[in-house]
Amino acid sequence: MNIKKILSAKGKKKLSMVTVYSYFQAKMAEEAGIDLLLVGDSYANVMLGLKNTLPASTELLLPVVEAVRRGAQNSFIIADMPFMSYQVSESEAIRNAGLFIKAGANAIKLEGGAEIAPLVKRLTDYGIPVMGHVGLTPQYVNSIGGYFVQGRDEKSVKRLVESVNALEDAGVFAIVLELVVEEVAKVLTEEVKIPTIGIGSGKFCDGQVLVWHDLLGINTEFKPRFVKRYANLREEIVKALMEYAQEVKDGSFPSVENAFREENE
Ligand code: KIV
Ligand code: NA
Repeated sequence: MNIKKILSAKGKKKLSMVTVYSYFQAKMAEEAGIDLLLVGDSYANVMLGLKNTLPASTELLLPVVEAVRRGAQNSFIIADMPFMSYQVSESEAIRNAGLFIKAGANAIKLEGGAEIAPLVKRLTDYGIPVMGHVGLTPQYVNSIGGYFVQGRDEKSVKRLVESVNALEDAGVFAIVLELVVEEVAKVLTEEVKIPTIGIGSGKFCDGQVLVWHDLLGINTEFKPRFVKRYANLREEIVKALMEYAQEVKDGSFPSVENAFREENE
């Protein structure tokens, strides 16, 4: 997978994307043939148990990107730029984006619309591919007031159309549409020549992304309607751990084959 293939997939082949936060997750995603791997700032939520993505930082996510690259050497890896790693100044944004590329990412992702277009242009001019992210942008949770479906009124739709156009003009290679009304996501997808990757935005997007823990049934604390669980790993893992604990207690683990004896090597 590379930028050219991503761009030419539009209208021909739907793109699959999943979040990954570790070496073995990356290895499994690559083995499964997932098109795009995202080191999301949702790391804060699903790996650290924090209530939103705002505490994520460059320092926190850089080693994660390195680990993901070690696990998926041939995959296209996108790194989320954390909250306040690209807003303070353009030079700071460029420096931090560069660190993610040096850590092994092929591209970075930024939340926001027209207001980040000048930065997107600078980054792409310097060889750092940028993925956009509009609709529900979790880094704006304090100014939005919660996690709501976007594109429900005319004003919001107009803003989304302006955002995707500004981002495309600035040079993004793809745009995540998060929690956008399906019909609006269709309009936005037709509006641009670059692929849209949806999460909670319906079937008309050029690709889909889900968070690892949602997709695999590890996060069972809540299930928004846009999530489809392809496995129930939490249940399976808890069951396995209970079995282990039980076998330790009743002495059936370790057995002969798990032990080193004087008569064998
Ligand atoms: O951080 C994340 O997981 C994301 C996806 C939901 C797109 O940004
Ligand atoms: Na994110």
